[in-house]
Amino acid sequence: MVNRVIIGADLGTVTIEKYIYGHFAEHLGRCIYEGFWVGEESPIPNTRGIRNDVVEALRKIKPPVLRWPGGCFADEYHWKDGIGPRESRPARVNTHWGGVTENNHFGTHEFMDLCEQLGADPYICGNVGSGTVQEMAEWVEYITFAGKSEMADLRRQNGREEPWRLPFFGVGNENWGCGGHMRPEYYADLYRRYQTYVRHYSGNRVYKIACGANTADYRWTEVLMREAGRWMDGLSLHYYTLPGTWEKKGSATQFDESEWFSTLRNALHMEELIRRHSAIMDRYDPQRRVGLIVDEWGTWYDVEPGTNPGFLYQQNTLRDALVAGIHLNIFNNHAERVKMANIAQTVNVLQAMILTDGPRMIVTPTYHVFEMYQHHQGATLLPVWVNCDNYTMDGEAIPAVSASASRDAQGVITLSLCNLDPNRSIELKGEARGTEIREITGRVLTAGAIDAHNTFEDPERVAPTQFDEHRLEQGGLTVKLPPKSVVVLRMRAS
Ligand code: AHR
Repeated sequence: MVNRVIIGADLGTVTIEKYIYGHFAEHLGRCIYEGFWVGEESPIPNTRGIRNDVVEALRKIKPPVLRWPGGCFADEYHWKDGIGPRESRPARVNTHWGGVTENNHFGTHEFMDLCEQLGADPYICGNVGSGTVQEMAEWVEYITFAGKSEMADLRRQNGREEPWRLPFFGVGNENWGCGGHMRPEYYADLYRRYQTYVRHYSGNRVYKIACGANTADYRWTEVLMREAGRWMDGLSLHYYTLPGTWEKKGSATQFDESEWFSTLRNALHMEELIRRHSAIMDRYDPQRRVGLIVDEWGTWYDVEPGTNPGFLYQQNTLRDALVAGIHLNIFNNHAERVKMANIAQTVNVLQAMILTDGPRMIVTPTYHVFEMYQHHQGATLLPVWVNCDNYTMDGEAIPAVSASASRDAQGVITLSLCNLDPNRSIELKGEARGTEIREITGRVLTAGAIDAHNTFEDPERVAPTQFDEHRLEQGGLTVKLPPKSVVVLRMRAS
């Protein structure tokens, strides 16, 4: 069969929210401490304690939003521990992640500074599991109230005169699990109560995000939409991609083709999850006012041998690049409902953008996909139809090609394509209906081996290169995707 990709180039009404390209940073392992925060006295070059190399690298992928402080950590975090002079902040136990001491040197002011340095919007997740309504209400007041009040004055005393803008606030995290093991009926009531006191102060409008389902827990979504839908702006969804099971996840770097296949198959499962959760949301919210916020996603492997099992440090290979490309295509294609997504997590944890080793830093294959896909941020989603051979393994079949397309404000079309098959290149005949493409440029991310990855000794092993395997002829396009690759084409009509 002829493999085809057709783009509805003159169609499209929905904007791909830039927030789909969002990030997540938890007080977990070496994400906050060492990954971002080294302290003002560190020999590692930093600005007010935040490392410069990491900020500089992340700015290149235009991080639109950063979620913090967790994750499971959020439902045990008491924000007043993290303000005031650092030497007097209390030491606490990080019970979820390795039982290490949390010195609270990175708190609200440091997080807001980090967001400003990154050019990212802050998304703070509040504590429902072990915190009070008053504590949550006061945090929002501390951050956003411009007038005179005890909390605003406390902020001023701690060195910040003007309030910050706080566009996103999560009312708890995984309250079905580490955030309190609640039933959806109970959490829905708590959500209604807590969110009441998340106020819109001084012109700051907070987009309130309710804790959503774990993977395929459709009942959670049903109950939350039914009981609390009208009080929320967003409802979250968490889904992690594992090659195997939670008990035996699989290695990040030592895997064969069957684990490559199962990982990509499981990544594609995100499509079904979004479709089915959205279908429930559509029943309660046909206008699609409430966004589906996939605020934790990505690969989760066995930790790197020799590292603290509570720190969730893992390497990142070409396989992770494909997982990222697949997810971002799915989120783009569901932009009518998916309004934000936050990959877990930014530095040194799970499917990271960046890995650090003391003063050294490398970017991962996943980072490169975010960099290559950045043209989709804020662009208009275009329908794209792919008719292509499957990639089969041991009698199982998955689509060999994943795709999404958008048109930016200048009229440039971005087409992102992933070839999941590690053994076969795929030639696609393309068409951009409703326009005449005159110029194409392309970039590709691939490598010789499925487990190729960057190391501190060899940091450029997996990096994007120019891609020329495309031809324009009689208005049509032919593109030859290398095996195991992520390709981004930029197409101009004049
Ligand atoms: O990202 C790691 C953990 O995964 C988060 O803390 C939690 O929300 C999820 O279970």
